[in-house]
Amino acid sequence: MAKSKIVYECSACGHTSAKWLGLCPACGEWHTFEEREEVKKSAKKHKVDVSSNGESAPVRLSDVTYEDRDRRSTNMSEFDRVLGGGLIKGAFVLLGGDPGIGKSTLMLQVAKRCPDWKILYVAGEESASQIKQRAGRIQLKGDNLYVQSGTEIRDVIAQARKLKPDLLIIDSIQTVFSSELSSLPGSVQQIRECSAMLQQIAKREEITTLMIGHVTKEGEIAGPRILEHMVDTVLHFEGDSGQLHRLLRGVKNRFGPAQEVGVFEMRESGLHEVVNPSDLFLSDSRSGVSGNAVTCVMEGSRPILLEVQALVTASNYSNPQRTASGFDQKRLQLLIAVLEKRAGLGFAGQDVYLNVAGGIRISDTAADLAVSAALASSLRDKPLPAKELYIGEIGLGGEVRRVPFMNQRLQEAGKMGFEQAVLPYSKSMGKPGIGLRSADTVSKAIGR
Ligand code: TYD
Ligand code: MG
Repeated sequence: MAKSKIVYECSACGHTSAKWLGLCPACGEWHTFEEREEVKKSAKKHKVDVSSNGESAPVRLSDVTYEDRDRRSTNMSEFDRVLGGGLIKGAFVLLGGDPGIGKSTLMLQVAKRCPDWKILYVAGEESASQIKQRAGRIQLKGDNLYVQSGTEIRDVIAQARKLKPDLLIIDSIQTVFSSELSSLPGSVQQIRECSAMLQQIAKREEITTLMIGHVTKEGEIAGPRILEHMVDTVLHFEGDSGQLHRLLRGVKNRFGPAQEVGVFEMRESGLHEVVNPSDLFLSDSRSGVSGNAVTCVMEGSRPILLEVQALVTASNYSNPQRTASGFDQKRLQLLIAVLEKRAGLGFAGQDVYLNVAGGIRISDTAADLAVSAALASSLRDKPLPAKELYIGEIGLGGEVRRVPFMNQRLQEAGKMGFEQAVLPYSKSMGKPGIGLRSADTVSKAIGR
């Protein structure tokens, strides 16, 4: 007879313990232990295996053939960019993102753009009729799209074997389950088992598999971390639900560049690709207002022009406010301190608000100079020249440091009609086709 006992399992890494622990000794996360019933089968041990014959002879690497034609374009240039040119046959991909961000919509749009792909869509979140309704919104007929509502993992695998789809979509990994386990769908154990089985299907039978995964409040993909190790590619779909644009970010990619970003806009008729994101993130009325400065950040291999807006006003608080949206708060405090010490500006008794237009989040330090210029402009209530942009990282000594990809950044600025760039000078820059004002310290860059 099967015996059961209670064990505690870390929801972040899957480490188990006989008693509840506050801190996971394996991954160092706090308050992640969950109670679960462990069923011990008396005779044979449970095994993750979907193969029938169990044979796997090693092959000589020189005998292995690989052709790039195994890569198939999704016919969505922004999606292809993040994947590194398209989906590789047999790839195992994880797509994470907040609820309602557009993950299911993105998958249906792949189906629309690739009408000759046979797609098996395992729908654990919505009914077939709900999917039909959504497909109507993006005008997808779906002659080659098969929707499966049953989410028992062996059933899913049996259907995938029968249909041999070009793409297997699991929406979502938190809704598939194995009936051989006692835990609920979405638990660490279920996610681990089901994704291990799906991995075997992807690798042994070369069925390209894309799993959708929910993210936790902290923005990580819910479930065990091993999920991210197991897959070839991890994509994050990000964006502010109050904003129209969505960023598809490659976090890990075994088949192409990581950190590449695709930009989409969510409209009434579905997701639209944004080929020129600089257009999207620059506001229309730039001139004449103090506190606005433009910079160029790199998102993957792509330069994007962005506008930072600062507002510096006399404070009514005993502890003046330092608020940043789309920019690291600590970095803002550091830049204010540098401006005070190295450029003689006084922010004491002033509230400082910083905002990145368009709701995008900046992580490139090349934006430091633009943030400083925006802060100085607002403090002095003096607008910056409309056709000027600022590129450079700022050090604690007030020095402006060079950043990589300067030529691409300047080219993008020239394309968008900018006439002058303020930046630390380097001889290797050549003639970028835009005026340059060299500044090696922040006080030189923003004037006294
Ligand atoms: P969805 O793909 O269901 O998100 P996820 O699978 O990540 O949870 O996206 C749902 C949101 O997108 C929903 O709020 C409605 C919106 N939407 C549009 O604005 N236009 C469209 O054409 C579609 C299909 C959805
Ligand atoms: Mg969905």
